Amino acid sequence: MNTITLYNGVTVPQLGLGTWQMKPADAKEAVLTALRLGYRHIDTAAVYQNEEAVGEAIRESGIPRREIFLTTKLPAEQKGYDIAKRCLTESLARLGVDYVDLYLIHAPWPWGNPEKDCSEGNAACWRAMQEDYKAGKARAIGVSNFKPKDFLPLAAAPIRPMVDQFSLFPGRPQQETVDFCKAQDIRIEAYSPLATGAVFRCAELKEMAADYRVSVAQLSIRYCLQKGAIVIPKSIHPQRLRENMDTDFEIRAADMEKLDHVKVL
Ligand SMILES: NC(=O)c1ccc[n+]([C@@H]2O[C@H](COP(=O)([O-])OP(=O)(O)OC[C@H]3O[C@@H](n4cnc5c(N)ncnc54)[C@H](OP(=O)(O)O)[C@@H]3O)[C@@H](O)[C@H]2O)c1
Repeated sequence: MNTITLYNGVTVPQLGLGTWQMKPADAKEAVLTALRLGYRHIDTAAVYQNEEAVGEAIRESGIPRREIFLTTKLPAEQKGYDIAKRCLTESLARLGVDYVDLYLIHAPWPWGNPEKDCSEGNAACWRAMQEDYKAGKARAIGVSNFKPKDFLPLAAAPIRPMVDQFSLFPGRPQQETVDFCKAQDIRIEAYSPLATGAVFRCAELKEMAADYRVSVAQLSIRYCLQKGAIVIPKSIHPQRLRENMDTDFEIRAADMEKLDHVKVL
């Protein structure tokens, strides 16, 4: 399994399992299956309401905790120092772990209100998260859904984010954010690499996948991997979990460029 190294030296398995929209029972089963297949990286969030199930699966797998990279997220609506501290404590309790490997601000704004200016709230969350990082409650800290302008309130902080997790898939290359992160030594993490299922309806992707003799899922995941992103596709089906790991092929540069411009959504 390829790894990506964060600027603080922590290594992240480049492919992980996403768990959004997994009910607890499905999340437990999917995480157990994924770990059995060789996944060592699981992405959850307080708002997914499956942290307990993810924690149970990790324990039941018998795999040592230190061998699994576990991410969870501070709910997007929770903006403030005290609440950020409380949220991580509660997530750790639900997961049944002493630390997470990555803790992210889920979004710079509350869901449904992307125009709201939460600069002060995000700076306060970040103060709490830096302390939790130094205390060993998170091995790395970062953000999600942040565009370059959203980083401004964190710019004076002693510790800058290590990761930005945002949507990245064929047709959504997010070049401005990718370039910003690269310049700041922030690793990029691709969520919804299959556009939450929309990639399967795109004729151009079906055609290119057939040329490479791979599936549309494999082509889309490979696109994100070749962008240098950490990638976290979600599936509850064992055969798809296996398929999504099997991306040992190379997309030609000209096709990568085509994939930047396909119409998926
Ligand atoms: N930070 C954020 O704000 C944020 C937002 C969105 C997502 N995320 C994270 O990113 C993860 C992935 O994104 P996502 O959940 O939006 O979806 P995704 O991974 O882009 O796509 C998942 C969809 O594709 C299907 N699928 C998966 N592998 C397949 C395959 N090989 N063949 C056919 N269908 C396949 C899944 O169905 P089955 O499950 O039925 O197989 C599901 O319907 C999330 O689970 C979450 O952890 C983060």
